[in-house]
Amino acid sequence: MSHELWTAVDGYIVETIAPQDEALRAALTASAAGGLPPINVAPNQGKLLQLLAEVAGARRILEIGTLGGYSTIWLARALPSGGRLVSLELDAHHAEVARSNIARAGLADRVEVRTGPALDSLAALEAEAAEPFDFTFIDADKVTYPRYFAWALKLSRPGAVIVADNMVRSGAIIEAGSDDPMVQGARALYDLIAAEPRVSATGVQTVGSKGYDGFVIARVNG
Ligand code: SAH
Ligand code: DHB
Ligand code: MG
Repeated sequence: MSHELWTAVDGYIVETIAPQDEALRAALTASAAGGLPPINVAPNQGKLLQLLAEVAGARRILEIGTLGGYSTIWLARALPSGGRLVSLELDAHHAEVARSNIARAGLADRVEVRTGPALDSLAALEAEAAEPFDFTFIDADKVTYPRYFAWALKLSRPGAVIVADNMVRSGAIIEAGSDDPMVQGARALYDLIAAEPRVSATGVQTVGSKGYDGFVIARVNG
């Protein structure tokens, strides 16, 4: 099996049952024009996030790592009227491109992109006594994943869902002695979840246009 075949099958899935509309396509075009790296979730993965948030009945969604707001748009579409999404982004230019993409998608009224180190924004959410979140998508710097997960847990209501991207890393995740800090960050999150009685979790390997990777999906015990 090859990356070309995985990509072709992703294309088939997207064309048949997980189509992108003009706003999603325009978000990718504007992100590329703005010089953002093409590391957004694949369209069928974005649809998976939307479906998971819908199944969870999420009214409040937290995203850590906005980039150009591509995954943000998929997730925000899961919100019922009156729902809200807060997305955290370090890079001011990424955040600016994202806000424009989100506005073009007609979602500016329910999405807030906060600029700055996510750890600072998470502490600020706690300080504001923000309402708890029903769904969190973790997709920023991999080394900090364990701390992001701990924050997501702290800011979640019982029954909430937490999803982390890039948790397989072409299989490198099983290399205990890896000198890749991103692999060690992801492994540290597996260890944290393994020792955390308040969540139930699994990992799902994926192949597709983004290569060989995977998600960890956790539910905060109700
Ligand atoms: N979720 C996006 C992709 C995110 S890429 C999508 O699928 O469309 C990862 C993003 O995390 C980048 O935009 C990067 O600037 C941001 N990031 C990296 N370190 C961060 C930090 N410490 N705090 C907040 N965002 C960070
Ligand atoms: C990278 C980051 C991601 O979140 C991703 O899904 C793919 C690649 C990266 O930093 O290279
Ligand atoms: Mg990712």
